[in-house]
Amino acid sequence: MHRCNKIYSHPLYKECLKRIEEKEADRIFCLHNLDHALDTARIGYIKILERKLDIDKELYYAAALLHDIGRYSGKPHSEASAEYALKIMPECGFSESETRTVADAILCHRTKSDGNSFADILSSSDKESRLCFKCRAADECYWQNEKRNKEIDI
Ligand SMILES: [Fe+2]
Ligand SMILES: [Fe+2]
Repeated sequence: MHRCNKIYSHPLYKECLKRIEEKEADRIFCLHNLDHALDTARIGYIKILERKLDIDKELYYAAALLHDIGRYSGKPHSEASAEYALKIMPECGFSESETRTVADAILCHRTKSDGNSFADILSSSDKESRLCFKCRAADECYWQNEKRNKEIDI
């Protein structure tokens, strides 16, 4: 089993994902479920390939899987998700430095960035995963108009 599937199978990861799905069952805005994590992973990995960036695929997928996992912990979710990454990743075979890279990127994933660093790719792919142009809750969403994804981006 590769290490990202170990994250997905980790009891703490599964528990957090379940709690997020329960809390968001009636949510009209964007969700923070596994689909969102995998959209963030795949969009980011396309950027990594297109831009020929030296970012490890498995490590990037790990960051995408974990970036919102602390969403309903009661703390700011970037901090909570980074803390969960620090707990979960070493138990899935990631080294201390790999875990630190992912936790640092998760900590700043809410800051908008167009750069090419690991954290930049996580942050921009997270935002680009949202289909604002077909959102039924667009009128009530707090995202400013200029921040929204208004069309299919290729
Ligand atoms: Fe987030
Ligand atoms: Fe996200």
